[in-house]
Amino acid sequence: MNHFNFKNGRLYCEDVSIKEIAEKIGTPTFVYSSATINRHMALFEEAFQDYPHIFCYSMKANPNLSILAIMAKRGWGVDIVSGGELFRAMKAGIDPKKIVYAGVGKTEKEIHEAIDAGIFLINVESEEELQTINKIGRKKEKEIAIALRINPEIEPETHHHIATGKKGTKFGLSFQQAKDIFSKSQELKNIKIKGLHMHIGSQITSIKPYEEALNKISDFIQELKQKNISIQWLNIGGGMGIIYKEEIPPAPSEFSKSILPIVQKTGCKLIIEPGRFIVGNAGILVSKVLRVKKREDKNFIIVDAGMDNLIRVALYNAHHEILPEEQKEGTITADVVGPVCESGDFFAKNRQLPILKEGDYLAIASSGAYGFSMSSNYNSRPRAAEVLVDNSRCYLIRRRESYLDLIQGESISPRLVDIEKKRKLF
Ligand code: LLP
Repeated sequence: MNHFNFKNGRLYCEDVSIKEIAEKIGTPTFVYSSATINRHMALFEEAFQDYPHIFCYSMKANPNLSILAIMAKRGWGVDIVSGGELFRAMKAGIDPKKIVYAGVGKTEKEIHEAIDAGIFLINVESEEELQTINKIGRKKEKEIAIALRINPEIEPETHHHIATGKKGTKFGLSFQQAKDIFSKSQELKNIKIKGLHMHIGSQITSIKPYEEALNKISDFIQELKQKNISIQWLNIGGGMGIIYKEEIPPAPSEFSKSILPIVQKTGCKLIIEPGRFIVGNAGILVSKVLRVKKREDKNFIIVDAGMDNLIRVALYNAHHEILPEEQKEGTITADVVGPVCESGDFFAKNRQLPILKEGDYLAIASSGAYGFSMSSNYNSRPRAAEVLVDNSRCYLIRRRESYLDLIQGESISPRLVDIEKKRKLF
């Protein structure tokens, strides 16, 4: 069931009118549906209920504290990639025993913080990182639980910027490197290798690359078993694709049916890190038409959201559906563009849309994942507000930034301005 629907020709999120939100909170504003998020989580829970597992929501997709609190409430953990994400996860009440930590460039400070927080597993991406963690473990007189991230070197059939499990990317270890690490793991006294991790890419709409990668990893685990090395956890990452336009991604139930027989052979418990699947289609970006600009050859619908709010179109040539807030007769073919000074600042090119005029609201669909989380202050534009809808209730879960927020932490060097002038300025 879709929770973004038209009722009497007006767009709603669950039982809340988008127009009402736009008028109260202003635009641009991200609007998320709790019901959709919970439904997506339930689909995963049902799909894997018969196999020992934990879910670690990949919080880079959308790290708002309220979204994380939904995860915590349902007993999910998170996949993190920085000290900042760890901080957010702890603030939102995520159980540290369900936090896994990936990333090729963890700093020593971040590793210390993760260990002190008592997280479940650090997903190690290089031998050099392993040595660093071992050294930190020695200092702390602790045995640190880790998983080795394997790069299975397969082709995940997605945009090259978001393909991570193929040859030549910076992620993970080759099978040979992992083998070498196991053979000298006795020397690493402050490390306990509990699992293997893979994450082959994002927005993957076929099960095939997962099967291919898992078969390789399963063979590797068998090889380890013959050497009396046992692995308890297998982390298969995230990457499950969603519908932006006409994709036909597998449902979690089909996904589990195909991969569980392979996972079962390994005897490992499962970790799954979906991000986009949970929140992508649970969010829209609501924006207002500032101007409809006509030129001899083209129409431009200039809206108040820009690439600073949602960079996916500029970065990956991604497709996002655009919905009017009000259904109307008649269409217009136009480019939908933002106010940012870049020609890459557009949401659609030559798109046929319902007639839109100045002051109308519209929604850029499928913006719940990698929308706000990749947003910036480019062109000194305050970042958007975020709203969470729950049935007929609606909560502001991040206020719109102010101009003062823009200069937070900045100062004018004393050499550039005298104190008196500075006082007047601020
Ligand atoms: N686990 C790891 C280790 C990851 O690096 C990622 C995403 C995930 C899980 C979750 O992947 P998901 O289920 O969301 O596909 N900004 C891009 C996506 C980058 C994904 C990075 N890693 C986009 O907007 O398409």
